[in-house]
Amino acid sequence: MRQTIRPAGRLSGLITLPGDKSISHRFAMIASLAEGASKITNYSTGADCHSTLDCVRALGLEVEEQGTTVTVKGRGLDGWRQPAGDLDAGNSGSTIRMMAGLLAAQPFKSRIFGDESLSRRPMGRIIKPLESMGARIEARDGMYPPLLVHGNRLHSIDYTLPVPSAQVKTCVLFAGLFADGTTIVRETIRSRDHTEIALREFGADLKVVKRVITIEGRPKLTGREVVVPSDLSSAAFFLVAGLLVPGSHLVIRNVGLNPTRSALLDFLLSIGGAVKVLKIESVNGELIGDIEVRHSRVRGGTIDRELTAAIIDEIPVLAVLGAASEEGIVICDAQELRIKETDRIATVADNFRRMGIEVEVTPDGMRVPGKQKFRAAAFDSFGDHRIAMAFAVAALAGDSESTIDNAEAASVSFPEFWNILRQIA
Ligand code: S3P
Repeated sequence: MRQTIRPAGRLSGLITLPGDKSISHRFAMIASLAEGASKITNYSTGADCHSTLDCVRALGLEVEEQGTTVTVKGRGLDGWRQPAGDLDAGNSGSTIRMMAGLLAAQPFKSRIFGDESLSRRPMGRIIKPLESMGARIEARDGMYPPLLVHGNRLHSIDYTLPVPSAQVKTCVLFAGLFADGTTIVRETIRSRDHTEIALREFGADLKVVKRVITIEGRPKLTGREVVVPSDLSSAAFFLVAGLLVPGSHLVIRNVGLNPTRSALLDFLLSIGGAVKVLKIESVNGELIGDIEVRHSRVRGGTIDRELTAAIIDEIPVLAVLGAASEEGIVICDAQELRIKETDRIATVADNFRRMGIEVEVTPDGMRVPGKQKFRAAAFDSFGDHRIAMAFAVAALAGDSESTIDNAEAASVSFPEFWNILRQIA
């Protein structure tokens, strides 16, 4: 699908975005291991989170959907049944990596696969710790999907994450639910902690001291009612659009403001962005609030080290903001971007060149000079949801009409994106 985006005069409105992708995956998977029904409100409308629901259904669980309310009827830790066919994770790295931790502990064999993009993403990072817990997993070339998971009895491990990845952390913690004894996961760089929060909400015995997480095996998880905040990573596109387009004023409601995700807001503020949190409350252990953004000239700056890990999904749209900023933006320590849904360093640079934006690509990031003129262009999402949306935002600041090919990719996390963009433009 091709979307056409006209330059925007000014953006304004009060908008509500779909549920957080990361939290939706976790709630659905944990609910499928709990005893009794769980009602999940504001479940993500994205295709990725529906891949997770389809897997849960294929594992024999009853899942009902009414709009964005999802009910999962859990049967406890031993309630999964061997699927009749292969499990399809679609485009979703979270689904395959997190599910693998649970499948590894089942008393049956299963096979999980994904689309072409997912089939190129590395799984060695989960296979290694799972094997040291006693799992048996066969992968294409030893590291790519599909994964053939031979369920096994698992034992606990003490594992230091070699990469700052919440998916890997979750995979090990999920496997730890089934392991004998106490599983320990150590982080050197903090990643999002939705799993820790959600597991505790459902009754797991999990402790976090500094960057060390411990979880006891075989807890009793209990079904419950939970609410998913709106997705800050989806809000990021509108925050940047609001900052970029002169005269804009947007309020985004009920957004997840978990401190392991909200470094994005601190970064925008630190470079002079007029971004304000209007109210904040805690729901199911997660912070939720409204965010206001007004057009402002931003300085630009450097994204590196821990900050890079904390805002990894927002980097494509921040690179766009960087090109319009006073001093430009430097992105370092972002080699993880190369193994996302696309090589996001390459796909951002490709689209930048289409619009005449200067960019210097480095092995672990890019340098984008500031004060650049945004020319209209024919963009491509390359099948990556965040690239489609980042360049839709760039197109709003273009000098005439731009197009985005393969725009349907946005549905992976945010099917309503194009409609909401039209509403506020
Ligand atoms: C996610 C973790 C991040 C992020 C992805 C969602 C999660 O991936 O990029 O969109 O929900 O845990 P990594 O764990 O690979 O860094």
